[in-house]
Amino acid sequence: MRLVEPSKEMEKHFIDMANDNMQANELRYQFAFEENFDFGVYIEKLRDNSKAEKIKPGYVPTTTFWLIDDHGKILGVSRLRHYLMPHLEIEGGNIGYDVPPSERMKGYGTILLEHTLLKAKEMGIKRVLITCDSDNIGSAKIIQNNGGIYENESISTESGKSVSRYWISSQMDKDAIKHWVVVNGSPRIGMNSDKLIETLERTSYFKDAEFTKFKLDSMNISPCTGCNQCRESNRCTIEDDFHALIETIIRHKKLILISPSFNYNVTAQMKCFIDRLFSQYAFSADGCTSQLGEGIEAIIIGICAGDDDGMGYTMEAMKRPLQDHGIQIIYEYKYLHTKHMPVWKNENLCGELETFFSI
Ligand SMILES: Cc1cc2nc3c(=O)[nH]c(=O)nc-3n(C[C@H](O)[C@H](O)[C@H](O)COP(=O)(O)O)c2cc1C
Repeated sequence: MRLVEPSKEMEKHFIDMANDNMQANELRYQFAFEENFDFGVYIEKLRDNSKAEKIKPGYVPTTTFWLIDDHGKILGVSRLRHYLMPHLEIEGGNIGYDVPPSERMKGYGTILLEHTLLKAKEMGIKRVLITCDSDNIGSAKIIQNNGGIYENESISTESGKSVSRYWISSQMDKDAIKHWVVVNGSPRIGMNSDKLIETLERTSYFKDAEFTKFKLDSMNISPCTGCNQCRESNRCTIEDDFHALIETIIRHKKLILISPSFNYNVTAQMKCFIDRLFSQYAFSADGCTSQLGEGIEAIIIGICAGDDDGMGYTMEAMKRPLQDHGIQIIYEYKYLHTKHMPVWKNENLCGELETFFSI
C-alpha cells in the first residue's frame, strides 16, 4: 500500500472508485460520469491545483494523493492544502480526505492520513489543522489515531453544522509515540471486548499512546485455504484486508490481540486472522523465519463468561502463533465471569487494569 500522486494510467481505478461512491449515493465524484468528462484533463487540473502560479486568486495550492494497494486499487483520497486561509481555519483545514464507501471501517483512513502527514512534513508544514463534522465519529477517530489534539468547535458557514477542529504537529516524532494496533476477535459491537479496550485506553500505562482498532468481524479476512503458495512467494495470494492489517502491525510493532472464548478457544474471526499469519513466515531451504521483523511486542487478552476452565485454550491459541513469529508477549490478561459481571458494570476494572499493567 502506498500514497501516490494521481496519474493518467490510473483511469480504470479512478472510475471504480467514483462508481463505489455513486453506488452509495455519495456524489463527490459524480462528475466522472458526465458526458464531457476527460480523465487526462482532470489529472492535469489536479496537478495544476498544486502549483501556486496556476491557481485562481483566493485559492490555496492543494496536492491530491491516492492511497493505492498493490493492484492500484484506490483505497482513499487525500488533499493537502499547503497553507491555511481564514475560511479554512473554520472548516477544511490543511488536509481533507475520503475513503470509498466499500473500503471504510478497515483502517485505511488512518493509514491515508498518516502517509499524508508525512508529505506535509516533507513540505515543511509544521502544524496541520484538520476538521471534521462533529457528528462524524469515524473521521474524528482517524484524526485522533494520528495524534490529533482537539481544539474547539466552529460552525460551518456552508452547512451551519458544528465542525470539530484538531491540530497535529507534523514535527512530532511519531516514533516517540507508542502506537498500539488492536485486533479484536469479538463479533459483537459495544460489548465486553470493546468496553475492555476502551477502559484499557484510559489507564496510565497507555497514557499518550495511540490506538488503531481493527474489528475483525467487520473486515474482509478470509480463512487460509492451505494452498501453500506463500511457501513459494512469501505472500498470501488471497487479496483481502489481511494485508493492510499486517502492514499496520509491522509498522507500529505494538499489538493487542483480544478475543472472547467461544467453545474454549478464540473466535472464528480470530482463528482466521491467526491462520493467515502462516503466510508471514519467511520460507527458505534453510528453514523458516518470520517476515514480521524484530521487536514486535504484544499483549493478549482473553474474555469469557465462565471461569478459568471456561477460557480453555483461548490464551494459548493467541500466544503460541505470535511467539513462533518471534513476537514478545509482554502481558497476558484474562477477564473471567462476564456472565455475572459484564465489563460495563465492573466499577473496579479501571483500577484493576491500572495495577495489572504497571507490574
Ligand atoms: C458461540 C459461543 C461460545 C462460547 N463459549 C464459551 C466458552 O467456551 N467458555 C466461556 O467461558 N464462555 C463462552 N462463551 C461466552 C463468551 O465468551 C462471553 O459472552 C464473552 O463475554 C463474549 O465477549 P463479547 O461480549 O466481547 O462478545 C461463548 C459464547 C458464544 C456466543
